[in-house]
Amino acid sequence: MLSVRGVHRSFGAGPSAVHALRDVSFDLAPGTMAALIGRSGSGKTTLLNVIGGLDRPDSGTVLVDGTDVTALDEDGLSRLRRDRVAYVFQTFGLIPVLSAAENVGAPLRLARVPAAERERRVELLLELVGLADHARQRPGELSGGQQQRVAIARALAASPRLLIADEPTGQLDAETGLSVMALLRGVVESEGVTALVSTHDPTMVALADRVIRIADGRLEGQLGEQAGGQDVT
Ligand SMILES: Nc1ncnc2c1ncn2[C@@H]1O[C@H](COP(=O)(O)OP(=O)(O)OP(=O)(O)O)[C@@H](O)[C@H]1O
Ligand SMILES: [Mg+2]
Repeated sequence: MLSVRGVHRSFGAGPSAVHALRDVSFDLAPGTMAALIGRSGSGKTTLLNVIGGLDRPDSGTVLVDGTDVTALDEDGLSRLRRDRVAYVFQTFGLIPVLSAAENVGAPLRLARVPAAERERRVELLLELVGLADHARQRPGELSGGQQQRVAIARALAASPRLLIADEPTGQLDAETGLSVMALLRGVVESEGVTALVSTHDPTMVALADRVIRIADGRLEGQLGEQAGGQDVT
């Protein structure tokens, strides 16, 4: 599903260059939920941006569903983000003047999904994230945890193959964060999507099938199994 091979990314040149990613390689099997962990500045956001086509590596390849993301032009990247890869950001990234339902439906509008079908999908997704009763509220009228659930529903709207989330619970209190992560875990399963989620919270890691640990731009170690010991990859 996802195959990262020999990815390097540095910022700047000469002795002051920052090597944010050094020879990063790993694979994710379809339907896996992987937690990406590492200290601040270890390269998590850089890696997620390279995988999602928001940034280009200096070298290496990223295959999403067999497509080399690093070889796509701008049009190809736009299509990739519209059809196959979805992002959830720490700051939710919802459009303030749109209702929860309109936010969730926005990617479908972009993909020119007919109104009736769009409404059905939006309803189902809001149901899935437990916000059916909040469809008409705007982001400003929702709690942080609810906003992030809307963002998750929106990310899933166009049925992406890969969901990337960069510290999706970073702005939430521990309890709300955990419930959002548990929800994400559930929808990853029910929608059959592959997810790569960066987080600072060790308790969140327990919910993941896989843990990918990064330090100083290098992958440290990868645990292929859950705490329970069953191999899910
Ligand atoms: N656009 C940029 N220009 C220069 N340096 C950058 C840029 N983006 C990231 N870096 C550097 O690359 C390194 C990795 O940064 P990155 O944002 O990927 O870390 P992170 O693991 O996401 O950290 P955090 O947990 O704080 O979000 C850092 O040293 C950072 O300063
Ligand atoms: Mg980051």
